[in-house]
Amino acid sequence: MTQKTARDGAPRQLTVGEVAERSGVAVSTLHFYETKGLIESSRNRGNQRRYPRSILRRVAVIKVAQRTGIPLGEIAEALSVLPHDRPLTAKDWKKLSATWRHQLDERIARLTKLRDQLDGCIGCGCLSMQECPLRNPLDALGAEGPGARLLEPGAS
Ligand code: FES
Repeated sequence: MTQKTARDGAPRQLTVGEVAERSGVAVSTLHFYETKGLIESSRNRGNQRRYPRSILRRVAVIKVAQRTGIPLGEIAEALSVLPHDRPLTAKDWKKLSATWRHQLDERIARLTKLRDQLDGCIGCGCLSMQECPLRNPLDALGAEGPGARLLEPGAS
């Protein structure tokens, strides 16, 4: 049977195995999250990791953000302003999800543009530095003409 408090009356903390089991996230992934600063643990007298129960909600938020394609670095940055010693609140989630929704909208717009460009490439196969938008999407110098523009200033 699970105890809700430790013998000293403090809230019982979770082992990494318990967090893994309850969150559905592998122990190795939890350790990885910790090295990236997404989650924090304390150590018991035996130098074993212990986590507050609030970690479960934090891990759930990380997984949801990852499913939407938010890079871990951005998730870590967003979570860095929130304390580790309390559960994330509905207000926290509202703020995080609004930010990530905006990023998701931007990503969808970028991917839609890429898909449309890919439509033009299907059946072509030229992969031309001058003509193909997927091969050279940011070719600002290409508009000036062919050749190594930066190595040969004034060349035409
Ligand atoms: S492959 Fe020819 S335009 Fe992209």
